[in-house]
Amino acid sequence: MKRTASSRLEELLEAARSVRRNAHAPYSNFKVGAAVLAGGRIFAAANVENAAYPLSVCAERNAVGMAVAAGHERVQGIAVVGQGPLATAPCGGCRQVIWEFCDPDGTVPVMYAADGGPAVTTTIGELLPRPFGPSNLAKEPRARPGRRGRRTV
Ligand code: THU
Repeated sequence: MKRTASSRLEELLEAARSVRRNAHAPYSNFKVGAAVLAGGRIFAAANVENAAYPLSVCAERNAVGMAVAAGHERVQGIAVVGQGPLATAPCGGCRQVIWEFCDPDGTVPVMYAADGGPAVTTTIGELLPRPFGPSNLAKEPRARPGRRGRRTV
């Protein structure tokens, strides 16, 4: 039987929890792990900070990048595990990056948790309502033949 994205969410969460240990976060001391389900495979990555602080990359963006580099343009689920007492929801920038690779119906499941605590399960549509995305840039139908190039000056 084909396993659905929701039946694999626990697996994704475990992958995020595990990869979090490899985070390079010497500046914030805030380790994050993320796992993306794409094409039936799990891509897990951690945040990677840099001495030039703004060059630091979030765990989610690294995980999405791995899925895309492996040839997957669609993600079916994502899990994030951070640290501290609060469940670590994906930051705004990561929500936008995740959206790029989700079905526009917004139903892709997202699970996020603190390192020890319970997980929150939601969807990308809940996390990023009224998004700007690829469909905003879809090309408009071509102008009718004969109208192109008509100039007034
Ligand atoms: N971080 C993530 O990896 N994902 C998020 O969604 C929130 C923030 C990282 C970035 C930085 O390395 C550290 O957590 C503290 O902000």
